[in-house]
This record gives sequence, C-alpha cells and structure tokens, in this order.
Amino acid sequence: MKHTVLLRASQQEDILTAAQILKEGGLVGIPTETVYGLAANALDGNACAKIFAAKGRPVDNPLIVHICDIKQLYTLVRTVPQEAENLASLYWPGPLTMIFPKADCIPDEVSAGLDTVAVRFPSHPAAQAVIRESGLPLAAPSANLSGRPSPTTAQHVLHDLGGKIDAVLDGGACSVGLESTVITLACTPPRLLRPGGVTLEQLRSALENVILDPAVLNPLEAGEQAASPGMKYKHYAPKANVILLDGSREKYLSYVNAHPTNAAALCYTEDKEFLSVPTVCYGNEKDPSEQARELFDALRRLDDLGVTTVFARQPKLDGVGLAVYNRLIRAAGFEVLKL
Ligand code: TXA
Ligand code: MG
Repeated sequence: MKHTVLLRASQQEDILTAAQILKEGGLVGIPTETVYGLAANALDGNACAKIFAAKGRPVDNPLIVHICDIKQLYTLVRTVPQEAENLASLYWPGPLTMIFPKADCIPDEVSAGLDTVAVRFPSHPAAQAVIRESGLPLAAPSANLSGRPSPTTAQHVLHDLGGKIDAVLDGGACSVGLESTVITLACTPPRLLRPGGVTLEQLRSALENVILDPAVLNPLEAGEQAASPGMKYKHYAPKANVILLDGSREKYLSYVNAHPTNAAALCYTEDKEFLSVPTVCYGNEKDPSEQARELFDALRRLDDLGVTTVFARQPKLDGVGLAVYNRLIRAAGFEVLKL
C-alpha cells in the first residue's frame, strides 16, 4: 500500500506536484470534463504498465492519450485526415476522442498491440494545466477499478484506487459525467465506437458518413472481434442485477411496485414519489445531460442499498440519451424486459 496524496486542482502548487509525479513515472487521478482519468506519461511504457496493474485492466484494452494543444497530435499519429481536422476545429477541446494510425513513439502498452492510437484534447482547465506543466502527453483511462462505474468525483477515485496510486487531483464533480465519444478515423467511413457528450447527430452534421458500430447497442456475438476492445468487457455494473424496463412511465411504475422483493428502482427524479421500493434517481426524464451527469454516481449508490435487483427505465436513444443508454445497457448485461 502506498499513501495516495489528495491534491487540489484550484492550487497551482498542487498542479505542479501532480506534473512532477507524472514526470517521474507515477500515477495521478486527474479531473476531466467527462470522468476522472488515471494519468501516466504516455511515452513511458513502464509508467503505463502501472495503470493496468492499479485498475486490474485487461492488457488488450488500449489507452486514450490526452493532449493540451492540437500541435501535439501530429507527433503522436502517422496521418491526420481532413475529417479529423474538421472535428477537432468543432469539438476540441472537449468530450471527443479520435483514433488514428499510431506513430512509432507510442508504446505497446498504450496501443495494446493495435497499430492505432486514441487521442483526446480535454476542455477541463485542470487537465490542461497538468498536461502543460508536465510537458507530456498523458495516457489516461477512466480512474475506476476495471468493471466498476467510471468515477465522476475525486472521492470515487479514492474509493477504488486509494493506496494504489500516487495522488488524486480534486477538481470537483465532472460536468459531462460519461466518458468521451470515441470515433475511429483509421477506417473509411469513420465509425462511432462509443457514444458520449459529442452526439451522433453532431458527428453526422460534420462528416459525410458515420457508421454506428453495432457493439454500441448490441452485445458482441460469440467470437466476434471488438472494434473497441473496451466494449467486450462487462462494465459499469453495480453488485445487484440491473434490468432495463422498456415501456411507458405508467407501466414502469406499476411493474416495479408489483415486484418489490429485494428490489430498488434506478429512476427519473419525477418517478420517485410514485414508487414503493427504495429509489436512486439519476436526473429528470426530459434532461439527458442531467442523466449523463448523475448516472455513474447513482450506479455506485445502488451498492449501498444491499438489494439484489434494480429496475431501471429505458432512456430515449437520441442526443446524449444514446450515451446514457449505452452505459445502462452494459450495466444491465443487456437484460431488457419489454413491458
Ligand atoms: O472520457 C474519456 O474518454 C475518459 C477520460 C479520462 O478521458 N477516458 C476513458 O478511457 O474513458 P477508457 O480507457 O476508460 O476508455 C477508452 C475506450 C476503451 O473502450 C478502449 O477500448 C477504447 O477507448 N480505445 C482506446 N484506444 C483505442 C484504439 N486504438 N482502438 C479502438 N478502441 C480504443
Ligand atoms: Mg473506462
């Protein structure tokens, strides 16, 4: 066990401490606008190997490299297609990750044996400050134990990784709350691998053609290769068995109230007063951005209820709702009950 130092994103001296730890090959949990990341020097294979050990992450799951200046991109990748430049001008800095053919400087630990690398320019000022002060591109997966919901507060990071990493930089709660949109531009046409704060609709208005990878909505078939290795693992699941209920609000309320044994509801705020089981709310039905911000904390809080079954409502699939659905359906192990 090591002592994990809690640093404050509002203090310049703490930003410098975080940068120094990273320069020395250590691991720091850093805030971003999406979720907290577990950062290491992306050019140091040994430092990146420590990320996998701390998280218990499968070694075939590649890492996203974070930059604080578009110029850094050209040092990390072999080619930057015009489409990527268009997307960067619209959505960087922000919750968008793009995948490119990788340059030779990217260690195998980062690309996990693939010939591509994922790059993101976060908008969070503290993330940018740490990247800038360290002078390094930073590899950072979500700072949770592998399989757990991604962390949206410094306390979530400490809960999962306290004693295993050098420091956490506390920048408060994340404003987006779900991980970045991941699109690969290493194939034609570009393909959306993970929906996030930059929506499919926004990508489609910026690019001529974008394919939605089938694994965004459906489980992989046995033996099928995952375009994004992270999508093949069980993810985000609380201890209880989560079931997504697909139907009207009325049907949801009456189904849950009729099945109260050892059950809880993961519901919208306005459903709470009509439910007779314990509830954890994750935002207003009409506000998918609020749902995105609340979902991971809600999934963590469900563990405290000690129930065996959680009934969640099936969200709408447009806009940020697609990202909320993508996480929930994984938390539910793809178990959907049509009402
Ligand atoms: O918002 C985010 O993206 C957060 C913050 C910290 O930036 N990071 C994050 O990283 O969510 P992680 O490792 O939890 O998720 C990265 C996803 C994984 O599903 C991984 O398989 C995929 O991106 N990925 C990374 N590099 C890839 C590559 N070269 N090809 C295909 N998929 C890749
Ligand atoms: Mg993750």
